[in-house]
Amino acid sequence: MDLYEYQAKDLFAAHGVPVLPGKTVETADDAAAAAAELGTAVVVKAQVKTGGRGKAGGVKLAENADEAREKAEAILGLDIKGHTVHRVLVTEASDIAEEYYFSFLLDRSNRTFLAMASAEGGMEIEQLAVERPEALARVPVDAIAGVDRAKAADIVAQAKIPAAVADQAADVIVKLWETFVAEDATLVEVNPLVRDPQDKVIALDGKVTLDENAAFRQPAHAALVDERTEDPLEAKAKAKDLNYVKLDGEVGIIGNGAGLVMSTLDVVAYAGEKHGGVKPANFLDIGGGASAEVMAAGLDVILGDPAVKSVFVNVFGGITACGAVATGIVEALKILGDSASKPLVVRLDGNNVVEGRRILDEANHPLVTQVDTMDNAADKAAELAAAGA
Ligand SMILES: Nc1ncnc2c1ncn2[C@@H]1O[C@H](COP(=O)(O)OP(=O)(O)OP(=O)(O)O)[C@@H](O)[C@H]1O
Ligand SMILES: [Mg+2]
Repeated sequence: MDLYEYQAKDLFAAHGVPVLPGKTVETADDAAAAAAELGTAVVVKAQVKTGGRGKAGGVKLAENADEAREKAEAILGLDIKGHTVHRVLVTEASDIAEEYYFSFLLDRSNRTFLAMASAEGGMEIEQLAVERPEALARVPVDAIAGVDRAKAADIVAQAKIPAAVADQAADVIVKLWETFVAEDATLVEVNPLVRDPQDKVIALDGKVTLDENAAFRQPAHAALVDERTEDPLEAKAKAKDLNYVKLDGEVGIIGNGAGLVMSTLDVVAYAGEKHGGVKPANFLDIGGGASAEVMAAGLDVILGDPAVKSVFVNVFGGITACGAVATGIVEALKILGDSASKPLVVRLDGNNVVEGRRILDEANHPLVTQVDTMDNAADKAAELAAAGA
């Protein structure tokens, strides 16, 4: 789960990372009041879960409360890369001597954590990374050893952060590592980490991604979820413990096993090209069990997607034999009753496939078509989706 800047900075503050005071508001009048309360020049900042806000006109300086109102009016409602601005952070403006870049992230390809740091941070960091990669230090971090003062000092030196603030920068980096670990984050990024004219090091921006697999031991994180930006179908699936990702096509997909579902997405996208360009509507892996309840929960989520015109159930019987899966489908359709209203293409194969196909044939449900191979089933599902669109 990605956090908003203000949420990231709240976590930073809780772990002792220096940030500036501020308040998050939803109206221009409240922005003016927040600026008046701070009593300083302020920066009004769009709160959206995407980068490049400054370049998109979502970060503006205001000298006083009236200006803060004006700037907030301009920023609220703005569309930044498809994200509508519903909130702005009104925060103390800082004078800036230098801008640095810092992040900790999970480096999956190298199976380690990684610190990235540069003395040349700010809004052009993506360009820097491409044009002068040597200016962006990449320092692997061992998960067990973590980041102590000595390691932080090493990162600071490799990033070429000036000696005058090296100790402070190292302190901040240790605290950012504490944040990363304590909050179960997969990303903690500060851009810019600034040096002000008094040589104070402050996090002016913050980006944090939390690892949702750790939610069971992070009860406080539930309060950080923003229902407004959550996809309602994904929220419903999450409530039912389903492994579901919404996509933008018309063919609903249910399969058992992540690998099978991924390849199902591919064959449906391929078959869809012959049928007006229909595409998969979702990823849904119902796992090994495939009980009637899980099948019903999965079908319920997929059929609740108005874009879905047909559903492809692709199951390879393993430990759970096809007979049980077929019974699951029949029972699920009974549970759903009239709310199951779109055609289902079912392809069963693997353990006890004969029994599975027999159960579905016998049930003879008007919405269900059985197809023996994955390619032909994908074609049928795409054809039905195109006909229903
Ligand atoms: N409190 C502040 N005081 C003064 N200047 C600020 C303040 N906050 C941000 N800025 C300036 O605005 C620029 C953009 O702000 P910020 O980095 O928060 O947003 P951004 O453009 O979304 O960044 P990113 O692309 O890294 O997500 C900063 O590089 C900094 O120069
Ligand atoms: Mg930034």
